[in-house]
Amino acid sequence: MKTRLLHDTSEDITEAAHIIKEGGLVAFPTETVYGLGADALNADAVEKIYEAKGRPSDNPTIVHISAESDMHRLTTSVTDDMKVLMRRFWPGPMTMICPRKETVPDVTTGNLDTVGIRMPSNPIARELIFRSGCPIAAPSANLSGRPSPTTAQHVIDDLDGRIDAIIQSEPCEVGIESTVIDMTGEIPMILRPGIITQEQFEEALGRSILLDPTLNRPPRPGDDIHPKAPGMKYKHYAPKAEMIIFQGSRENVAAAIDAERMEREELGQRVSVIEFNEEEEKIAAHEIFARLREADKEDADVILAAALPQKGVGFSVMNRMLRSAGFNVRNV
Ligand code: TXA
Ligand code: MG
Repeated sequence: MKTRLLHDTSEDITEAAHIIKEGGLVAFPTETVYGLGADALNADAVEKIYEAKGRPSDNPTIVHISAESDMHRLTTSVTDDMKVLMRRFWPGPMTMICPRKETVPDVTTGNLDTVGIRMPSNPIARELIFRSGCPIAAPSANLSGRPSPTTAQHVIDDLDGRIDAIIQSEPCEVGIESTVIDMTGEIPMILRPGIITQEQFEEALGRSILLDPTLNRPPRPGDDIHPKAPGMKYKHYAPKAEMIIFQGSRENVAAAIDAERMEREELGQRVSVIEFNEEEEKIAAHEIFARLREADKEDADVILAAALPQKGVGFSVMNRMLRSAGFNVRNV
């Protein structure tokens, strides 16, 4: 298949919307990462997303909308809590898991009786959804298992020749995927951490919420039986290189990375180091996936990464780093 490389012009967005309406696949920018979109209510179209990504079919997609009124096409109930969060965090990097309406195809939700819904803030994404006239199912626009794409080039690298079109635009602002919050239980629970943190949800709702307790620790037997966000159970965000995360005091981590680097270089290996300033968690979020992809492009044999403190956005970035490294952590 020849993939059309479109631009973020009004004309090209109209063209992309036409492709979506006809049941095709279009990669498009959002504020978090690039998404791979199809008409969420067209089962055949969504099926093609799984094929293009090589994605397991029990992993549900997030459905993107451009107006609050679109909620009613997807979910049977909009609770007061949902309304509070919608007003506060939409449009933006929040996905709410809601009870699913029957009109949403099984393939879109991975056979679950819930549906993940998000209204992105990126104006090109909003315009594309609006002009398509349908909600758009969109996972991240990467090959399954690879780091999420935060530039148009990342999408081209993974999906050129596998999808109908790519809308090429600016690099994504946020850099990690939306916070996924389950709104179907008595107490809302974060299933995937993102740039919107637990503290911000608690402040908006005026009460405590839950954080999936299996996040940020290696999987244990039993965890995988009923994973709450099925996507979290797969090998994820993985660079080709081996990756080690060093955790400890700043000085110990710096010394351990230096020592490891020298040892590896003596063995003739290519080493890539990822260190972020602890105070600049948002920059770390913005850069992490691009850095993992750069290491691959440089043919690194090993990536040595410094852990971030696991609070606030640092927790969310570490969530991605731990999965990229397959939980290969060295305490120093
Ligand atoms: O920022 C984002 O959310 C990006 C952009 C494109 O919007 N999308 C994204 O989609 O990251 P994806 O498919 O790569 O990740 C979706 C995550 C997975 O972990 C999936 O299991 C979870 O959301 N999810 C989706 N629907 C769900 C549902 N009904 N119940 C539980 N988890 C769900
Ligand atoms: Mg993904």
